[in-house]
Amino acid sequence: MDILISKFSNHISEVVTVKGWAYNVRSSGLIAFLQIRDGSGFTQAVVAKQDVDELSWQKASTCTIESSIIVTGVVSKHPKHENVYELHATKVTIIQRAEEYPIGKKEHGPDFLLDNRHLWLRTPTQWAIQRIRNEIILATYEWMHNHDFIKIDSPIFTPNACEGTTELFEVDYFEDRKAYLTQSGQLYLEAAIASVGRCFDFGPVFRAEKSKTRRHLIEFWMMDAEAAFTDHTGNMEIQEQLISFIVVRVIERCQMEFKILERDIELLKRVKPPFERITHADAIQILREKGSDIGEMDDLGADDETILMRLYDTPLFIEKYPASVKAFYMKRDPADTSRVLNSDLLAPEGYGEIIGGSQREDNYEVLVARVREQCLPEDAFRWYLDLRKYGSVPHAGFGYGLERIVAWICGLHHVRETIPFPRLLNRLEP
Ligand code: 4AD
Ligand code: MG
Repeated sequence: MDILISKFSNHISEVVTVKGWAYNVRSSGLIAFLQIRDGSGFTQAVVAKQDVDELSWQKASTCTIESSIIVTGVVSKHPKHENVYELHATKVTIIQRAEEYPIGKKEHGPDFLLDNRHLWLRTPTQWAIQRIRNEIILATYEWMHNHDFIKIDSPIFTPNACEGTTELFEVDYFEDRKAYLTQSGQLYLEAAIASVGRCFDFGPVFRAEKSKTRRHLIEFWMMDAEAAFTDHTGNMEIQEQLISFIVVRVIERCQMEFKILERDIELLKRVKPPFERITHADAIQILREKGSDIGEMDDLGADDETILMRLYDTPLFIEKYPASVKAFYMKRDPADTSRVLNSDLLAPEGYGEIIGGSQREDNYEVLVARVREQCLPEDAFRWYLDLRKYGSVPHAGFGYGLERIVAWICGLHHVRETIPFPRLLNRLEP
């Protein structure tokens, strides 16, 4: 019977067959140990020469690292380790004997590993990261579904910018038309709320940012959410509930993955709503006390966020940034019109921004004025402006960067390991 390694505990003392890859091999004259991985987990097959036929022994004793393999044997509990099972082999077949594997046990530099990303993806740490990423995605869908958000798929080819024109990828459409790869589906979700009330999208977005930091990817996955009849405060409440749910869920389901990554989950267990909130003005003051010369109305850079978030061990909202550093669609704060009703959610342990969100400008005249002030192409935004003419309502939303959340939850230094095939300023391959 074919069994996944993760299901071994239900099959102790039974004869099972496992199909996978030998990620480590060791053999002496009479016994071979094959470390096997099948996607669901890891196990050791013990192959004793006396217990298998001659061909099986020959295959097992000459098996190379990363050969694809089929092993039949009896499942047993590891004599020393709790929750660890072994397979005592009765038959071994090699599907394909691997050539000498380029990724060894010695330390490799990041460039070598990224050049070999198609192979690097198989190592246990990379397996663990992708499993956690998957759990974050599932938790997001579940939370959104349980809170009446409908999934609305926004387009990838767009005629206009969402987050500013400097970071747009331009592509040839048909005839002499240009199209742009989407930076965020937000504007389309704002249209959809008048149909479905609350919605979200989840997909790849593109930013032609010439940034080479540990937080920037050229192509990354964003989850945008938008809710009708929701204000700035309600928007933050949705975010803190969602993020807390994701963290609890991942802790619950990814114990083995965290162990492989050596991630201290005690810090994650402190993530509970409500999250602390400070204003942009407060943040500037803290940074200045720490010796920064940041201007009063400056945006926070990646380094500022790192400095700030080394002081916090739980997520933090920074609200009400200067309007001049934020997007045209954000609603002004009626108490101080130089600022907007926005929030960035920053992750602790120095991770920085994981979510950007705001209440949206819902008044037609004010929004037209903003489009003109920022010299945006009014024609391309005609449909978006229309939304303020036909039953406009107060509304708010946010976008989370999946890779930044994965990096924080997994405790990784750089976002390049959080996505299966990263697109970076200097990297399009593999
Ligand atoms: O703050 P941003 O630019 O917000 C928007 O695009 C809004 N339209 C979202 C909305 O309100 N629906 O991007 C949202 C998040 C950031 O907080 C960050 O986590 C992530 O996307 N992000 C990036 N992640 C990786 N690489 C990049 N170059 C990123 N740029 C933004
Ligand atoms: Mg942002």
